This record gives sequence, C-alpha cells and structure tokens, in this order.
Amino acid sequence: MEINNNRIQIISIPKIEERRGNLSVIEHDTVPFDIKRVYYLYDVPSGAERGGHAHKKLQQFLVALSGSFDVVLNDGRESKNITLNKPFEGLLIKPGIWRELQNFSSGSVCLVVASEVYIEDDYIRDFEEFMSYTTHKQKN
Ligand code: TYD
Repeated sequence: MEINNNRIQIISIPKIEERRGNLSVIEHDTVPFDIKRVYYLYDVPSGAERGGHAHKKLQQFLVALSGSFDVVLNDGRESKNITLNKPFEGLLIKPGIWRELQNFSSGSVCLVVASEVYIEDDYIRDFEEFMSYTTHKQKN
C-alpha cells in the first residue's frame, strides 16, 4: 500500500513555534472532511491493542499528541505499518481500511478527528467480513 495513495496519507499540521512552546492547529482545511467528532485514547496499558476494525464511511485523522504508537493498516491486499510520534503530523485513514493500533509508549495520547458521529453500524469488526466487503468493493 503506497503512502499517500488517497486512502491513507500523512498530513502535516501547521505549527506555530515560539520560545514559549509550540502550538499546532487542526482546522477545516487541514483535513479533507468536515469535523464532526474528536476523541482520544490515553492510559493505554503496555502491550494493549486498539482498533481491529474498518469503517464503511468514516474518515479519521490520527495524531500522536504525546508519545508514540504504531498503526498497522490493511487495504485487503497489503499491509503497512506506520509509526506516529509527532504532534505536528497526522495520519488520514479513508473508509475501507482495516487498522490496528499497537506498541503504545507509556503516557501516549492518540487524538482522533473524525468525519462522522459515532455509529456502530459503520464498523466492520470481523476481519473475514472486512476481506469479503473490500474484495466485493474492489471488483465493483
Ligand atoms: P472502538 O472504536 O472500538 O475503540 P478503538 O478502535 O479505539 O479500539 O470503541 C471502543 C468503545 O467505545 C466501543 O464500545 C464503542 C465506544 N465508543 C463510543 O461510544 N463513542 C465513540 O465515539 C467511540 C470512538 C467509541
């Protein structure tokens, strides 16, 4: 899976650097969708894994606000591991990508900016189901 193949993309977040510290802003033109929801993962125990699903419509933008973690992505054909560890860079994940988040460093925080409100029906939580869903999509 190519990075920046329109399904996944690393996007820089503007940074305002001052001697007093840095400030980064995610606003309407940082991500290619209207922001409807923001949530974050924190206090993730060592060795724990998050994600393990795909979405049918939801677009997400993940940022390691603090610390680092790996995002393992699978588009139904190939898989790719991306480490996020910068608060001024995020990973855009379009729909139809299986993702697993792992190797959270101690104290890490994963910010997720999302294009839709929470809808459980938008999740594909079974990998076999994801494979048949994505294979069907790729054929049609
Ligand atoms: P889930 O999206 O599976 O977490 P992750 O992908 O980070 O491992 O969500 C975990 C639980 O939280 C699940 O029961 C659904 C609930 N949840 C909400 O109620 N609202 C939300 O916006 C999100 C993201 C999750």
